Amino acid sequence: MTSTHTAGSPALYAGPFNTAQPLGIDRGNYIAIQSNNPAAAAQYAVENMGFYLVHADSDGRHYLAGHGLDPYSLVYTPGEQGKVDHISYVVRDAEDLLIAEQRLAELGVKTEAIAHSPLWRHGPALRFANPSGQTIELTPGVLVDVPMAALVAEPQSTPAPISFDHTIVRALDVAAGYEFSSRVMGLKESARIVAPDGIPVLGFFRCHTLYHCYGVARSQYNGLHHMQFTVKNPLAVHAAFEHMKQRGKVELIWGPLRHGAGHNVVFYFRDYTGHIVEYSAEEEIILNDATYAPRVWPITDPRAADEWNLSHVPEAMM
Ligand SMILES: [Fe+2]
Repeated sequence: MTSTHTAGSPALYAGPFNTAQPLGIDRGNYIAIQSNNPAAAAQYAVENMGFYLVHADSDGRHYLAGHGLDPYSLVYTPGEQGKVDHISYVVRDAEDLLIAEQRLAELGVKTEAIAHSPLWRHGPALRFANPSGQTIELTPGVLVDVPMAALVAEPQSTPAPISFDHTIVRALDVAAGYEFSSRVMGLKESARIVAPDGIPVLGFFRCHTLYHCYGVARSQYNGLHHMQFTVKNPLAVHAAFEHMKQRGKVELIWGPLRHGAGHNVVFYFRDYTGHIVEYSAEEEIILNDATYAPRVWPITDPRAADEWNLSHVPEAMM
């Protein structure tokens, strides 16, 4: 790792960024979280978060759809409260699963191919673990040419999550998390927030054009930092926030604000299992892969977190 340093500014990483081959990941699909009471977690998501309960299977999994075209965007499955069951990403077709399986084998990554998924409305899948211990899944899904939230009509209710677009995992070993995101998952780095020692605190990776579908946060433990769902536009962000605030049923964490990194308008709250959920809109899209240079935000620049009000990241999200 090389670094540059000028007087008065932190040392910044200046090594190679996007060197990976793509794994065929097209976009976020859904996230499955374990709960000691999936029915209650699902009811909470319906009453407070604007999801539709579309199915509960005989194994107790509860499937929640947003207002986009995906059959579901959030699943609560029986198990240890708050444990990530798996994070699902869309590939373009079943053929891409075979290519991904071969590529992962070449990289020495252990995979599990699932021809017949026990999940509802679910095609064949390929699963593997990230260095934080979470299961990543690839599966054919709904194909869209533009981000899902840009495609669909404006929902007439609030809150109205449209699609699962990204999650950030917590990593004890942030370097391993970075290497995995890039070299194994084949994602392109969009930006990083770095500590004064030059080590990334947060890294954002995109699979297609949307700023991030996956990210890694340097942490004291391996786990989930937050899961995100996109709403239609900034007005929908504010409407959802005001709705939750007025009802007083949801623990609000941070926002509304506009991030510098990703430029999304966001607010954060907790779900039934205690996880931090982000509702956001207007995330940056990157169309110039050939000339795009990932931005490096020093953590000392408050605009990385809150461009307009310069507020600090709350303790719960450190
Ligand atoms: Fe986020």
